[in-house]
Amino acid sequence: MVMPKSERDLARNGDGGIYAHVVGWGMAVPDMILTNHDLEAIVETSDEWIRTRTGITERRIASERESTASLGLRAAQRALDIADVLPTEIDLIIVATSTPENIFPSAASLIQHRLGAVKAGAFDLSAACSGFVYGVEMANQAIRSGSITTAVVIGSETMSRILDWQDRSTCILFGDGAGAVVLRASNTPGGVLSAVLRSDGSGADMLSIPTVGSEDLSNSYFLASEHRMFKMYMNGSEVFKFATRVIGESILEALHKAGLTLNDVSLVVPHQANARIIQSAARALKLDVDRFVSNLDRYGNTSAASIPIALCEAIEQGRIKENDNLVFVGFGGGLTWAAMVLQWGVPPAIEGFAGSRIKRQRRRASYFLARWGMRLQRWGRTINRFTNRLLGRSEQKD
Ligand code: ACO
Repeated sequence: MVMPKSERDLARNGDGGIYAHVVGWGMAVPDMILTNHDLEAIVETSDEWIRTRTGITERRIASERESTASLGLRAAQRALDIADVLPTEIDLIIVATSTPENIFPSAASLIQHRLGAVKAGAFDLSAACSGFVYGVEMANQAIRSGSITTAVVIGSETMSRILDWQDRSTCILFGDGAGAVVLRASNTPGGVLSAVLRSDGSGADMLSIPTVGSEDLSNSYFLASEHRMFKMYMNGSEVFKFATRVIGESILEALHKAGLTLNDVSLVVPHQANARIIQSAARALKLDVDRFVSNLDRYGNTSAASIPIALCEAIEQGRIKENDNLVFVGFGGGLTWAAMVLQWGVPPAIEGFAGSRIKRQRRRASYFLARWGMRLQRWGRTINRFTNRLLGRSEQKD
């Protein structure tokens, strides 16, 4: 019997197909740092408890002027610089987030406009902390099908806005930030080799942010009395057990799909939720914990942003070389989980590299025009409304 070729075999042999490679990356975190000691003044906790139970020392908190879209925009701009891609070359922008500014317009649409990506489709993707891996896989499939050439996938969060700052079991865990990658079509085999996306909605009560359209919280048999509208609720110990189980399973499944084994893996970039979860996954897989990227001591859990932020730092630290096999693994609300295997296809970033000078200037011009174009359009609409009212005309007639 002829065994079907794994996706990896097809990639290795070169089948004239299209492959999605990561060609740019960027991250953005707020300047404001909230330490464990600062938290001691907000809730009954201690630096010692947080460090030993989670591995977190500090996290970043967005200022009033920062938002999911503004952090995501900065990360995307950096990724476009590394990739040396113009905004007009982008076909698709996906923002994985649980903390968008609006239900609509999406954070992705806001970023699309602010980049001046006038030929791009844009949407937000809701898969909590697994969202970035889901997003990369959506972009990968669109590229491999030939439907698009260039995609920007962003994980961006302002978790500080949906935390219950009186709930010490959640507010100490999360932070704000964004990370982004640019994916491009290439005939060179490699890039995204496989992905496993999973969901189990029966765990919806374990991790949630009730919002518009939620059941009446006071009468709900489904949600616990601790749930509050627009605030995160989490049953930490249950999520912990779920996370340690699915990380190993999904990594092995994604590797199998790619025709690889754990021995082929150079680096695992996991969702940054808890150092103990990472250690337990490493133990279960019998992998040295040094092969897992971990930066949650400095950023906490930034949900959908955690994997791209950890990826950016690993690249900056020179931990990723050409042809390395990387694994991304995420888990979170939904419940959702996802793992992905990639063969790194571009050389590590050259320090200070920011693409060709002309393209860089064109990107800056695009951002400037987008910002002022939007302001002018809005002023135009306001003046129009004002004039119509003055002249006693109904807006609908116009
Ligand atoms: N400071 C001091 N004590 C605390 C704190 C705190 N911040 N939080 C909880 N405690 C107490 C509890 O009240 C409890 O006290 P008790 O024994 O007197 O009742 C005790 O510490 C132990 O509480 P546990 O909840 O059992 O603590 P645990 O060791 O499980 O750690 C934690 C809690 C850190 C939340 C852990 O369960 C965890 O990391 N869970 C997974 C979270 C995760 O992975 N989320 C991923 C997805 S997030 C997303 O999708 C958006």
